[in-house]
Amino acid sequence: MIKVITYGSFDMLHEGHVRLLKRAKALGDHLTVGVTTDDFDRARGKINVRQSLMERIEAVRNLDLADEIIAEEYEGQKIDDIQRLDIDIFVIGSDWTGRFDYLREYCQVVYLPRTEGISSTDLRSNDAPISLGVTSGTALPVKALEQSRYVNGLSISGLCVPDAGAVKEKPEGVPFITDDYRELLDRSDAVYISSDPSRHYEEIKLALERGMNVLCRTPIAIRTRDFDELEELASSKGLVIVDAIKTAYCQAYTRLLLLLKSGIIGEVLSVDSTCTSLRDQDIEDADPGTWNSLCLWGIFAMLPVFQILGTDYVSKRIITRFVNRKTFHDGFTKIDFLYPGAVASVKSGQNVKSEGELVISGTRGYVYVPAPWWKTDYFEVRYEDQTKNRRFFYQLEGDGIRYEMLAFVNSVRSKRHTKAVDESVSRAIVKVLEDFYAGVDLTEI
Ligand code: CTP
Repeated sequence: MIKVITYGSFDMLHEGHVRLLKRAKALGDHLTVGVTTDDFDRARGKINVRQSLMERIEAVRNLDLADEIIAEEYEGQKIDDIQRLDIDIFVIGSDWTGRFDYLREYCQVVYLPRTEGISSTDLRSNDAPISLGVTSGTALPVKALEQSRYVNGLSISGLCVPDAGAVKEKPEGVPFITDDYRELLDRSDAVYISSDPSRHYEEIKLALERGMNVLCRTPIAIRTRDFDELEELASSKGLVIVDAIKTAYCQAYTRLLLLLKSGIIGEVLSVDSTCTSLRDQDIEDADPGTWNSLCLWGIFAMLPVFQILGTDYVSKRIITRFVNRKTFHDGFTKIDFLYPGAVASVKSGQNVKSEGELVISGTRGYVYVPAPWWKTDYFEVRYEDQTKNRRFFYQLEGDGIRYEMLAFVNSVRSKRHTKAVDESVSRAIVKVLEDFYAGVDLTEI
């Protein structure tokens, strides 16, 4: 029996895939098809695959050409598969000519001519891109603009900044700059709000009223009343407000959450997270309502607390050292949360420097995420018996911003509003900020 194997993403299955699989099948008696997992695609830089692994496997299965379907999960797996499955022929399209010659040591390698004129990439780009208007506070959101280029199905429509006239050089790929938020909305399909937190409520509300989906830098609002109103408005209109908090979209971090759910360190008793960044920037003279340390860094530090321990804490204590009390600009803030059976502690600030690590302690072991944990590609699970320690590494491109944009595009396109940050978590963050501004549970040092 001649056994054949081939691999691919098979996203939005098309005629090119079908023809390749038919010809591959005809080369032998048994065909194995390896479908790339989302993780593996991401690791090799293909971040825009539209369908899930299950959907893609299902589509291949429905063709009734494959005798066996496997998932391709890691670099180097092909050699393993070929040996394990006793493969005689490895087949791939001619776009890969030469790339898999190293497999000749293990089996015959055949490059089949690729079908002209069709590809998953073309199919994906057939949808008109979502034109995203971007609002920003003081600085140009250079990173976000740059990262948006990696996101298929997205184009930047324009930029809204307070002093548009003063911007000397228009950033590359930005068609227009304005200081009129309504103009930005007029010329966009959706909006990315990166302005000061005090403006979020107003800006989100206007966008939703016009039927636009919103990607907003966390926090969504600084009052729970406003948050609730916005969520209600969004849901009544079938729209989404997606938290732009890059960590929530980093693969290492999302994997970490799943592992904790599976009980890898037993019951979680404590979460300790620290996010600081020493800035020379003068926050003493900052305007009220602009980003303070708690909004800028505290939100990251709180994220794992609420995502791991939930939002039903019994009590909290916010300890703050203000740089400017009147404008609520804090240099350092520490928050302790008490849960039934667990505790958490977060430290954040711009006038303090500390180790930006995340430690999650459990009854069987602990997770250690080294600094800067909020843009991590790596973490360790550690036990009393060190020989059992495990290390996890996931490729991270561009510190996570492109992934949050991609999640937004997919969410808008599929109308499946799956959020990486649960509404309850998003609201819990807003609640802490609200209490901070109202002086509730707050101790000044
Ligand atoms: N293939 C083909 N003809 C096409 C497209 C793909 O023969 N027009 C082959 C590829 O060479 C590969 C297999 O189908 O052997 C799976 O390819 P995949 O990368 O999943 O499809 P593409 O359409 O090339 O995807 P993308 O545009 O995302 O790269």
